[in-house]
Amino acid sequence: MYVVTGAGGQLGRALVEELRGEEVVALTREDWDVTLPPPPGLVPDVVLHAGAWTDVDGAEADPQQAAAVNVGGTANAAALGAPLVYYSTDYVFDGTKGKPYVESDGPNPQSAYGRSKLHGEAAAGERAWIVRSSWLFGPTGHNFVRTMLRLGAERDEVAVVDDQRGSPTYVGHLAAATRQVLDLPHGLYHVAAEGDATWADLAEAIFAEAGLGTRVRRITAEELGRRAARPAYSVLRSVRGAPPLPHWRDGLRECLAAIRDVPGRE
Ligand SMILES: NC(=O)c1ccc[n+]([C@@H]2O[C@H](COP(=O)([O-])OP(=O)(O)OC[C@H]3O[C@@H](n4cnc5c(N)ncnc54)[C@H](OP(=O)(O)O)[C@@H]3O)[C@@H](O)[C@H]2O)c1
Repeated sequence: MYVVTGAGGQLGRALVEELRGEEVVALTREDWDVTLPPPPGLVPDVVLHAGAWTDVDGAEADPQQAAAVNVGGTANAAALGAPLVYYSTDYVFDGTKGKPYVESDGPNPQSAYGRSKLHGEAAAGERAWIVRSSWLFGPTGHNFVRTMLRLGAERDEVAVVDDQRGSPTYVGHLAAATRQVLDLPHGLYHVAAEGDATWADLAEAIFAEAGLGTRVRRITAEELGRRAARPAYSVLRSVRGAPPLPHWRDGLRECLAAIRDVPGRE
């Protein structure tokens, strides 16, 4: 039996969808706040730990609570005693490498969120697959694709950061790859979409694929002035045999198709 934590989040939902037909206990935050001990009587074969504090700027204001969820919550998930998949992030890197980050590269997080996720990797324990991914988007929840679709419908022009480059990854592709990861030895894997883009590139692709005429004005991260520092370059690649994912543009098309299928989806 699989337990999925954070089952109401964008990745959690994709995992539950991917595992349709299997025995799955899908736990939203309401079902199990992972900062608390696990519900009694839960004996999973595998835990897919998608529950996390993901508010990157909010973590700067409340690093203790971010750590309580991302580190303490991961320790609680590991305490279930089953092998565990912990989803980590490209934000564990400082972004100065200028070439794709592989599993052997040293982390150096620049934000409270990145630090909490890195410490969470250690809290996942020995019997864990640490799956680092990046720039997640899907048909539900808070993500860049959905934000751009909303802004694109309202405005002729949107200002978007052009000096951060990463691998925008579709949650459906990451969920499918998670099944393959389970066949690999425990350890650290980089699992992100093929190709790379800046946020501005991604915004232009979103508007083009969605048939919107919205223009993208390319700005710097400094101009946007967000609270948390983000890596300027955080493309992830694997040298450890992690499953390759489709290109981010294919992920974007699949995501937009899923949004069209169920337009009111939240
Ligand atoms: N989003 C990205 O770009 C990205 C990139 C790389 C890695 N990741 C990692 O991938 C994983 C999934 O991220 P996501 O994009 O699916 O995030 P998400 O949509 O924000 O989902 C996270 C889920 O965790 C829940 N949660 C928050 N605090 C919790 C708690 N104390 N107990 C139980 N559940 C709690 C959230 O509930 P509420 O909505 O009610 O708060 C939400 O449903 C996370 O580990 C994240 O760090 C994300």
